[in-house]
Amino acid sequence: MDTTHVGDGLVPGVGRHLPRTAPGSSTEGKLAARTSDVKVTGDRAPWRGRLYETMDKTVDFGAERVTAAEKTRRVGGVFDAVVDRYDAMNDIMSLGTHRLFKRMAVEMARLRPGKQVLDLAGGTGDISALTAPFLGQQGQVVLADINGAMLARGRDRLLDEGVANVSPVQARAEALPFADACFDAVIVAFGVRNFTDKEAGLEEMYRVLRTGGMAVVLEFSQVQNPLLAKAYDAFRATWPIIGTAVAGAAAPYRYLVESIDRHPDQGAFRLMMVDAGFEEVEVSNLAGGAAAIHRGVK
Ligand SMILES: C[S@@+](CC[C@H](N)C(=O)[O-])C[C@H]1O[C@@H](n2cnc3c(N)ncnc32)[C@H](O)[C@@H]1O
Repeated sequence: MDTTHVGDGLVPGVGRHLPRTAPGSSTEGKLAARTSDVKVTGDRAPWRGRLYETMDKTVDFGAERVTAAEKTRRVGGVFDAVVDRYDAMNDIMSLGTHRLFKRMAVEMARLRPGKQVLDLAGGTGDISALTAPFLGQQGQVVLADINGAMLARGRDRLLDEGVANVSPVQARAEALPFADACFDAVIVAFGVRNFTDKEAGLEEMYRVLRTGGMAVVLEFSQVQNPLLAKAYDAFRATWPIIGTAVAGAAAPYRYLVESIDRHPDQGAFRLMMVDAGFEEVEVSNLAGGAAAIHRGVK
């Protein structure tokens, strides 16, 4: 059982390989076996010193401004609260469209057998499950998430589905415990909005990509047509009500709506990717801009 600690200690357990809990599974031994292909650094990431000095700066948590440390804590609380109903709620709130959007994001990463892919903020592993079949025996997906409960759900689900070439690693996006230039693609689905420090997360994605590697970011965005935007607002107003009925909590879904409103729009996020160093950054709107895929090349 591999429990290498490579985190900074700010969030307990962050930066470790998640041990498996499914002895006897046919995929036992394979799930964490290929992490040797991806160099995991052994200590607090020195290149991310800036983050630790700025944990007192304020950032958005939904409609509120809170310290960075408080946002990290509260985002953790959001996903701890919804983990049991997370996948069902995604299907209900998106009317199933998130599955199609994720498939499109994975296809845009131009994956090939043998590639190393990071599913960042991967949660319950949808992107990993879609990515793994493209990579073959020699390739690997690293499923990374800051939240142990979400990650454990993803790991168990992938084991149940017999997906062997995925390694779960608990890690924060702003200080990834991976060596420079070790991934061919980084895919983030509905994760960046939740990062404590989006700029730092994008810089880390850039750092861990090989030259020519592809970053694909699927995220909620801004609906372009004003009439459609009104209808979408009315639809989103139902999410906290559905959240109460299905997941027994409204607050995480109020945060969801508020965090979408605070997230940079298509153009602003494109510029953030350019600032992080990405080239050829393109934007594809989905469902009229309710979501967007940004793709950039290192
Ligand atoms: C909305 S879920 C998306 C999960 C999955 N990618 C999907 O599309 O279903 C957002 C995920 O981002 C993770 N997350 C939030 N902040 C993070 C951070 N700073 N570093 C890494 N993961 C983070 C959360 O724990 C959560 O699992």
